[in-house]
Amino acid sequence: MKTALLSFCGLIGATWVYAQQRPNPSAPPKEKYVIRANYDESRVPSYILPEVLTCHDGEVVTTVRQWEKKRRPEVYSLFETYMFGKAPVLKKRLPYQVVRTQTDALGGKATRKEVRLQLTDDAQGPHIDLQLYLPRQAEGRVPLFLGISFLPNYTVCNDPDVVVPEPADGKKGKMDYRGSMEASGQPEKILDHGFGLATFCYNDVDPDFDDDFQNGVHPYYYDKGQYFPDPDQWGSIAAWAWGMSRAMDYLEKDPQVDAKRVAVVGHSRLGKTAVWAGASDPRFALVISGNSGCCGVALSRRRYGETVDAMNERFPHWFCGNYKQFNNREDYLPFDQHELVALIAPRPIYIASAEEDNWSDQKGEFLGGKGAEPVYALYGLKGIGTDEMPPVDTPYMEGAIAYHNRKGPHAILPYDWEQFLRFADRYFRP
Ligand code: GCU
Repeated sequence: MKTALLSFCGLIGATWVYAQQRPNPSAPPKEKYVIRANYDESRVPSYILPEVLTCHDGEVVTTVRQWEKKRRPEVYSLFETYMFGKAPVLKKRLPYQVVRTQTDALGGKATRKEVRLQLTDDAQGPHIDLQLYLPRQAEGRVPLFLGISFLPNYTVCNDPDVVVPEPADGKKGKMDYRGSMEASGQPEKILDHGFGLATFCYNDVDPDFDDDFQNGVHPYYYDKGQYFPDPDQWGSIAAWAWGMSRAMDYLEKDPQVDAKRVAVVGHSRLGKTAVWAGASDPRFALVISGNSGCCGVALSRRRYGETVDAMNERFPHWFCGNYKQFNNREDYLPFDQHELVALIAPRPIYIASAEEDNWSDQKGEFLGGKGAEPVYALYGLKGIGTDEMPPVDTPYMEGAIAYHNRKGPHAILPYDWEQFLRFADRYFRP
């Protein structure tokens, strides 16, 4: 009886808290958000960037030690608290299972592995289906690109042996999408280069829509009585990046992979994700930002193309609750995106822009890389290597921060991969 009464009170209490925090159902419907983007360079406001090397207490960083012990943790904590949100710290590795291995994939060129990674202690809970292609001829452990993708693994490569699941609606031709992302992923080119490619679909971790974090991985990590993340806890991008780290947990165990030579790569919202994964997990040796734009590597204070307000309005689930306070208040941000790039130092980063992609602000992306240079310089490393916005199709990759602005649209194209591979060669070739 006592227990029943307590659970009843608990239920009332929980409902009360829930009702307290939910949006008011009788509120008038929100007006449709109208995007007002500036594409005129002369109308970019003047702004002052936060000093990446100045600590909260005014101390100016001049050594790697000061950066790593004092300033980097400050900057990291700001991004975690006010932008991406804090992801759970695991006390132990989660279970995984190698579901299938095929040693003669792609006409004998590759070994393909399918690995299921549990994302919680609950075996029935969300999981990542990680797919690996590893070059068969390779001697020893191979370097690898870990890509987070918009679509399931069967779209990555035109591989007749990959099982394509039946579509839920039972209508679409089963094979429709097999290999449809091959141009963006370039699996065969990567394999011919002697590198491996591992991918998973971001929806495995958290489906990409605003549902107050009721599906995906978030609810599994709520405290007792918690119904959605606190204002400083993980949004979807932090969850996807956390998923990349779970993939890395597995890669460290795979005897064919050199976990010390793993690059993270993503495009657009998944470019933002790859950059945050690189910033938050130092095990990633190289980072590729494909058109990550606003809230990726592009400076927010420029307010060119997409803005913080447009992002939070249209994709409120991507960032943590605290980030909303900076809508139309970019000058109050306690950081700017050059400091996100700086968090990756001294590891190399490739920033890829596209000429037609004004929404992502190509110049802002370039300046995001430039602004991180003082931190790379602490390690004696060169940055992009030019102060001027590089001409189209002219990659700069002599330093640890590489940049190009490729002709064409918002995408990852074969041209981009050619540059990424050249850049990775410099760091991953023995
Ligand atoms: C939208 C969004 C961008 C994002 C892009 C994508 O355009 O505004 O910030 O990068 O979607 O992920 O495709």
